[in-house]
Amino acid sequence: ASALDVDVSKIPLGGEIRVLIGGKPFFVRHRTAAEIAAADSVNVATLRDPQTDDERLRPKGDGSLNPAILVTSGSCTHLGCVPVGPAQGNTGDFGGWYCPCHGSHYDTSGRIRKGPAPTNLPVPDYKYVSDSVINIS
Ligand code: FES
Repeated sequence: ASALDVDVSKIPLGGEIRVLIGGKPFFVRHRTAAEIAAADSVNVATLRDPQTDDERLRPKGDGSLNPAILVTSGSCTHLGCVPVGPAQGNTGDFGGWYCPCHGSHYDTSGRIRKGPAPTNLPVPDYKYVSDSVINIS
């Protein structure tokens, strides 16, 4: 198993970094207040893969959540392409990520909203090792 420390304080607001762990892509996104609000305002019962935004976050050392930082797999749950996002100038119809392979749209919580992907972008195991550093495994 491999793991990686990521300094989330270096991710620009509204941007993301993409990392590879064990050859697999992951996204670490620094969400804007508007993106957090959009993720929070969804009626979860309408989702294909119902999860609240809070359920997709991991607690910090003090047990609180940091909604500004979202960590997800970077593999589309349809057939594994790597979706595009803010750095590519295309966040899809729901402001998160867009998979150009077959047109899956993910929201600002990485939840599937439109297109063929069956489930949300999985959230990997990660933990805060300090206020600004997470360890993704
Ligand atoms: Fe992403 Fe098919 S692999 S939509």
